[in-house]
Amino acid sequence: MAKRVVLAYSGGLDTSVAVRWMIEQYGVEVIAVAADVGQEGGDLPAVRERALAAGAVEAVVVDCKDEFAADFVTPALKANALYEGRYPLVSALSRPVIVKHMVAAAREHGADAVAHGCTGKGNDQVRFEVSTRALAPDLDILAPVRSWGMTREDAIHYAYRHDIPITATKEKLYSIDDNLWGRAIECGEMEDPWAVPPPGVWVLTSPTATEARDVVVGFEAGVPVSLDGEQLALVPLIERLGGLVGSYGWGRIDMVENRRVGIKSRETYECPASLALILAHNDLESITLERDLAREKARLEPRYAELIYDGLWFSPLKQALDAFVEESQRYVTGEVRLHLESGTCLVTGRRSDYSLYDYGLATYDAADAFRHEDSAGFVRLWGLGIETWAGRQSRLGS
Ligand code: ARG
Repeated sequence: MAKRVVLAYSGGLDTSVAVRWMIEQYGVEVIAVAADVGQEGGDLPAVRERALAAGAVEAVVVDCKDEFAADFVTPALKANALYEGRYPLVSALSRPVIVKHMVAAAREHGADAVAHGCTGKGNDQVRFEVSTRALAPDLDILAPVRSWGMTREDAIHYAYRHDIPITATKEKLYSIDDNLWGRAIECGEMEDPWAVPPPGVWVLTSPTATEARDVVVGFEAGVPVSLDGEQLALVPLIERLGGLVGSYGWGRIDMVENRRVGIKSRETYECPASLALILAHNDLESITLERDLAREKARLEPRYAELIYDGLWFSPLKQALDAFVEESQRYVTGEVRLHLESGTCLVTGRRSDYSLYDYGLATYDAADAFRHEDSAGFVRLWGLGIETWAGRQSRLGS
């Protein structure tokens, strides 16, 4: 039985109650780890205090923003990773970086287990646990929220009885998870997939901008490095672009997705920065990647997204695909112009010193350098098999 447990702590009701509940039920010491992955309202000193007030022997806040951007978001962007073609994996990407720091904290504080506050119905339990087993197979994993059988109301009563400071109220409507890459909003009336998401759920994409404008995103080897020519570090670049694109009311997703545990669930997301960056990156690849490489990469991208979604960030296939994607990005350097106007974000231009777009080959005007005479023989051979087949069919009268 575990003696010291590192808990992934968010500061919310469930993880606050989990601190005390694990102490009572399992007789363990709890070390709370709160990871800053760029979430809103992350008054992290206050989160730390709350963990201690709930009974944690130690509470640490880890700033993972730069690491999250460089080592988790960037590979996903290079792979244009969208789960089921739409969701840029906001929550799914944050779990492995959080687990990395939980495992580090477990080593540092001599813990023999880690714990998370996920329910038994979601994907996040899968990601926390599979990532932990990949990085630290010797650690036990506790899932108090999955085991305790309390309703939300029970948990609130438990918090009051034990003087655990919480900000939650009974009528909390949504389950929200957010970070640098976007925001996920679930539950409440949106559990009916036909119901229109109430306007109150949107915070990153409320349309406030009135004048249309352009923004130019610069990339180097697949990594975004500048906005309108100004060099920016990844975190401020993502934040600034998200604020800008979001102010045009663009970046919302409303979908029913397939969870790993077999449930279909209605999800809404706001992902102005991630969707705009994937749009621009993907477009820059259209002039910098050779056709076969582009095709093969596009074929592998959904698989890559699925691995991340399914909790397999730390896995041999993901590692091998990373090597492929990394190799593909060598010349993905250049700029993409995005045009923003109410509810719209559209690519209106792309350029690169490594562009494979050849004006002399493409043009229909006097500068044309294409050898037209080559086409006749090429097309004849291209159609030869079809012609042969058609000849037989007509001999057979069909
Ligand atoms: N459905 C998304 C996913 O599985 C978002 C999960 C968000 N988690 C939350 N606690 N609201 O990646």
